[in-house]
Amino acid sequence: MNYQNPRVAETAQLLKTRLNELQNKTEILRAVELRSLFEEIKTLPPEERGAFGNEVNSLRAELQALVGESRDETQEAREPIDVTAPLGINTPADKRPQLLPSEQGSQHPLTTELAIVLDIFYRMGFTAVESREIDDDYHMFGSLNFPEDHPARDDYDTFMTVQTDKDDRPFIAPAHTSTMQNRVLQHHKAGLERGKPIAAVIPGRVFRNEDLDARHEHTFYQLEGVYVDKDIHAGNLIATLKTFLQEYYGKELEFKTQPFYFPFTEPSFELIVSCPFCDKKGCRICSQTGWIELLGCGMIHPNVLHEAGIDTNVYTGFAWGMGIERLVMMKYGIEDVRYFESARLDFLRQFA
Ligand code: DAH
Repeated sequence: MNYQNPRVAETAQLLKTRLNELQNKTEILRAVELRSLFEEIKTLPPEERGAFGNEVNSLRAELQALVGESRDETQEAREPIDVTAPLGINTPADKRPQLLPSEQGSQHPLTTELAIVLDIFYRMGFTAVESREIDDDYHMFGSLNFPEDHPARDDYDTFMTVQTDKDDRPFIAPAHTSTMQNRVLQHHKAGLERGKPIAAVIPGRVFRNEDLDARHEHTFYQLEGVYVDKDIHAGNLIATLKTFLQEYYGKELEFKTQPFYFPFTEPSFELIVSCPFCDKKGCRICSQTGWIELLGCGMIHPNVLHEAGIDTNVYTGFAWGMGIERLVMMKYGIEDVRYFESARLDFLRQFA
């Protein structure tokens, strides 16, 4: 609205700016500046009163309209939500309780990427189950063929609780998603006899006692994979991971394996892939080498299958564990793993 009278125009400007900052928008209608404009009408010579009065009235009408609009946008105008009442899924959209507007937030990049990863595995016939954020010594070590006091336990230094479980051992913030292997094998083993392979992926949050740097975080995400059936061999493992990675990065990649050691696999490998970010030219993501050590994997150790009650004379399987941050960093050229947990809006907004 354009006001001819300079005092009205100036007050309009002032009050509109103030309106933006007010919590209770209706206060603007009681502003002293507006009241003094009304007072002023009476003091003017009769021939000026009409035009001035009209403008002051228009200003009040404009402010009223702005107050009304902003009320629609805020929670004040919404019905309070009864959080204990079930929400009928057949309720038409305009009858459902209104939640805060969602335009302000966005999904965390790891949430978005994990959904893409899981979708690829669903299409490959895997089911998904989430891992736990607190677990016990048996699932962290015992069920995975770590003997008591074996030095391999040192590779998984993590956090534990003061409170103890029934065997008088502390609870553990899991250092890997492999803690779920025994549960998944037990849960699905009955299907094996009916010819149904065990095929599961397990996303979850894991914790390590780490010195932090661009490649190491104390809290990060992993995706575990487990596959068991008759006649399964390492070729199936490589083919599965290759299929997944090529689908995820949308391009052909080259693969190498190198021997490694995990107590829960025999043989154990590290899977090395050509850098999907630079296509082997060398970049800061792959430390100029063109190759990246992406994940640990191997053929599930017979002791692990046996511990879950699976007949190792009949069935074999493979498993892997990969860091989700690493996977996403290689896709987008993210140079520092600490960004993910940093809550830095300038980082997060790039994925909004
Ligand atoms: N749990 C291992 C780690 O976090 C990764 C891993 C290696 C998982 C081999 C597996 C596997 O399932 O078979 O270092």
